[in-house]
Amino acid sequence: MILIDGKETAGKIKLEIAEEVKKIIATGGKRPHLATVLVGSDAASETYVNYKVKDCEQVGFASSMLRFDESIPEQELLDKVSELNLDQDIDGFIVQLPLPAHISETKVIEAIDPAKDVDGFHPVNTGRLLIGMPCFESATPAGIIELIKRYNIETSGKHCVIIGRSNIVGKPIAALLAQKRDPGNCTVTVCHSRTRNIKELTLQADIIIAAMGQPGFLTADMVREGVVVIDVGTTRVKSDQTKSGFKLKGDVDFEGVAPKCSYITPMPGGVGPMTRVSLLLNTLKAAKKEIYS
Ligand code: GUN
Repeated sequence: MILIDGKETAGKIKLEIAEEVKKIIATGGKRPHLATVLVGSDAASETYVNYKVKDCEQVGFASSMLRFDESIPEQELLDKVSELNLDQDIDGFIVQLPLPAHISETKVIEAIDPAKDVDGFHPVNTGRLLIGMPCFESATPAGIIELIKRYNIETSGKHCVIIGRSNIVGKPIAALLAQKRDPGNCTVTVCHSRTRNIKELTLQADIIIAAMGQPGFLTADMVREGVVVIDVGTTRVKSDQTKSGFKLKGDVDFEGVAPKCSYITPMPGGVGPMTRVSLLLNTLKAAKKEIYS
């Protein structure tokens, strides 16, 4: 069994990005700049946004954090997005989700210029992803593909079973792995809450991507020997072993499943760090105008 070390891989990629930033600056280019928009003070969102700012510092990007009160009217936030779209110094930006109930997330995402949508959430980017055009890929699927590449995991002709059909993980990773390219060329099955025979399907899988947010859902009896398992789950569960009183749990019963795997991601230290680094890679692509020129 090989442990897929997302933390170490993300660390290497960060060094590669930092090198590239140094070259850009040395040749008179502009420092890549990511802006993050945070509405309200949701504890998890605060943590995520702080990580994003710290990640930018580590690779030499400029970053701006724009904070707004929970009560900001929808139109005011939409106007802010328009300003960011026009700001020549900002290469890419993200609006941290979830947003307060009175603001339409769809409207806000649609207001973002696809060329600055480094989250890859805009319908133009998700549509381009589906048909295999260059686009900003959402961070978690992009991170999974990068891990598959860097660990030389064969995907061609393999049966990949994805558990979860979210717009930001399940659907895009299904599209990426079914694409006619490498990594890709998988036969993909997408399972979800209404799937009746999940175990029958996971037992046929060469690769399983668990992304439905149910701690410990995938157990040893559901997988066959030699399977590749990618755990995307990060559910907060109560814990008396941590200072904060909670810990993050994956969708895979790691202890039971790992001995049967050829490759498996741990949680933490698997997909999470790769998701964070993918946002940096997208920001670098935005700064270099690699996707939309
Ligand atoms: N909330 C949780 N994850 C994400 C993310 O990747 N991007 C944004 N914008 N909000 C999130």
